Amino acid sequence: MIKQLQFAQLTLIIAIMTVNNSPPVIRLKDLRKRFGIGDAENFVLNGIDLTIKKGEFVAIMGPSGCGKTTLLNILGLLDQSIDGEYELDGQPIATMSKRKQARIRSQQIGFVFQSFNLISRLNVIENVALPLTYKGITRTKRLEIASDILRNFHLNEREYYMPYQLSGGQMQRVAIARALVNEPSIILADEPTGNLDSRASHIIMEELSDLHKRGNTIIMVTHNPRLTTYASRVITMLDGQIDTDTKTITNPPVLSSPKRPLNTRRRKKSTYKIKRKRK
Ligand SMILES: Nc1ncnc2c1ncn2[C@@H]1O[C@H](COP(=O)(O)OP(=O)(O)O)[C@@H](O)[C@H]1O
Ligand SMILES: [Mg+2]
Repeated sequence: MIKQLQFAQLTLIIAIMTVNNSPPVIRLKDLRKRFGIGDAENFVLNGIDLTIKKGEFVAIMGPSGCGKTTLLNILGLLDQSIDGEYELDGQPIATMSKRKQARIRSQQIGFVFQSFNLISRLNVIENVALPLTYKGITRTKRLEIASDILRNFHLNEREYYMPYQLSGGQMQRVAIARALVNEPSIILADEPTGNLDSRASHIIMEELSDLHKRGNTIIMVTHNPRLTTYASRVITMLDGQIDTDTKTITNPPVLSSPKRPLNTRRRKKSTYKIKRKRK
């Protein structure tokens, strides 16, 4: 019995050690990004050292123009002309073929932008299914997968709406659903709540927070210091460098207004309660 317990303890310790020793998802060493040439040359990112582990929720803050979007684009392999080192999942980007980079970008990284970037001539479900087009899945299957994700976001009733028929908050939730359709392990969000009011912002943050709890790595740029309470780590940037880097305890703020519209299940539950009270 004691031996069994010791064995269980040992297994647990080994498991914990394995998680802690897992290679970082992102490792930057002296990352620099130049724009312009000759007299006009300047470093927008100027020596960034950064390690991000799997499952972290990193909020990046800093004044406009300090290089946040440039950094996110580099992390998302949208911009590869850099100096310094970038390792993704333990592999240097510099040694990766363009084809492999494109595959990683489409399968492992989900992007969410401030301006939602939905395709206006496609309806909600087609927007969400779009990233699956390049995977050789049949159209019916693609729409099925998109529909499942939209249900998780309580947007299944909006599947056939066009983007212009949605509120800003709904558009961003569709954009997040689209970013997730390939089950990426890293989500990069550039001011995802920048165009939303505070209630819609908190709904989006709840969605991101849920994804974080399910083990995804999230890197989010935000201007709003209140939203950093959802993150496990807050980085501030200044003039192309990391200024501060703080680990925080995840403790989402308590909201006075409801976080998201009641879904059908919740609505049924509350009706049930009222009925019982009346008896
Ligand atoms: N394609 C580009 N060519 C030249 N300069 C650029 C380019 N993109 C960004 N910059 C400059 O890089 C700096 C950082 O931009 P950006 O990363 O967008 O900042 P942030 O997202 O923090 O507001 C700004 O001064 C911007 O003008
Ligand atoms: Mg920006």
